[in-house]
Amino acid sequence: MDEFAIDVKQLDKTFGQVPALRGVSLQVRRGEMVALLGASGSGKSTLLRHLNGLHCADAGSPSSVAVLGRRVQAGGRLARDIRATRSKVAVVFQQFNLVARLPVMTNIMAGALHRLPLWRGLLRRFPAAELARAQEAMARVGIARLAAQRASTLSGGQQQRAAISRALVQGAEIILADEPIASLDPEASRKVMQSLADVNRDLGVTVLVSLHQVDFAFAFCPRTIALHDGRVVFDGPTRALTPDRLRELYGAQVGELLPAQATTHPTAWPTAAPEYADVALRVA
Ligand SMILES: Nc1ncnc2c1ncn2[C@@H]1O[C@H](COP(=O)(O)OP(=O)(O)OP(=O)(O)O)[C@@H](O)[C@H]1O
Ligand SMILES: [Mg+2]
Repeated sequence: MDEFAIDVKQLDKTFGQVPALRGVSLQVRRGEMVALLGASGSGKSTLLRHLNGLHCADAGSPSSVAVLGRRVQAGGRLARDIRATRSKVAVVFQQFNLVARLPVMTNIMAGALHRLPLWRGLLRRFPAAELARAQEAMARVGIARLAAQRASTLSGGQQQRAAISRALVQGAEIILADEPIASLDPEASRKVMQSLADVNRDLGVTVLVSLHQVDFAFAFCPRTIALHDGRVVFDGPTRALTPDRLRELYGAQVGELLPAQATTHPTAWPTAAPEYADVALRVA
């Protein structure tokens, strides 16, 4: 089996005159849960969008991206079989991307459309096995009882968990989550991160989740990749990211990455991030 879920080499991306990514290389193994940390404008969304081919790297650059052993792009050109690869990669955005007026179940079944005949999607007549799969996916993230409600009636955190269910129904082997908790209160944030950790642990889904603040990386992600100004400035165990280390990496921007109480009350800072085994215990 191919070794890496995500394999990025020398990714360069420039928007006009603005370099957004500069020589970014990283590898994520299957089954890892990794935080992508960075202040606003550091390149997190741009990087995630390259992983499923929504962005192409600079033409003629040495950049390459492969996921699950399949090429997504190289030298600024998309692979021809990108659609097949995309079905294995789901994206969860900060802005809840559900259709507000449709029931939660219908939203989640959208994940199955790529393997069903068109008429089933149009008439919303789904095979029993697919409906059962959707029910199971909703139960896994704790929203089974909300299946018949309109998506617009769900809280932000419930909507994000619905988006995670849809990723499961899609059969995604990788979830790319772009600041999925940026609009949520701490309790809802915790539940969404917990759902990501559960599908990572129980189903082996690889998770790469971009975060503005380091505290949730500490609680849920054994490894963090930190971006600053389009470059990878740290890639290693989250527990190594002490406030001092972050200050070293980010200078004046560090305030964006630390939870409010960590700057005013240093004692509130978690002393050590969990290692992988600890994470498994915590979510049990
Ligand atoms: N479509 C675009 N056109 C022009 N510039 C862009 C575009 N997308 C991103 N950029 C620029 O690229 C850089 C990286 O942006 P990106 O959105 O990837 O950062 P981010 O880390 O996701 O930030 P945030 O935390 O605010 O979401 C920024 O300077 C941004 O202005
Ligand atoms: Mg972003």
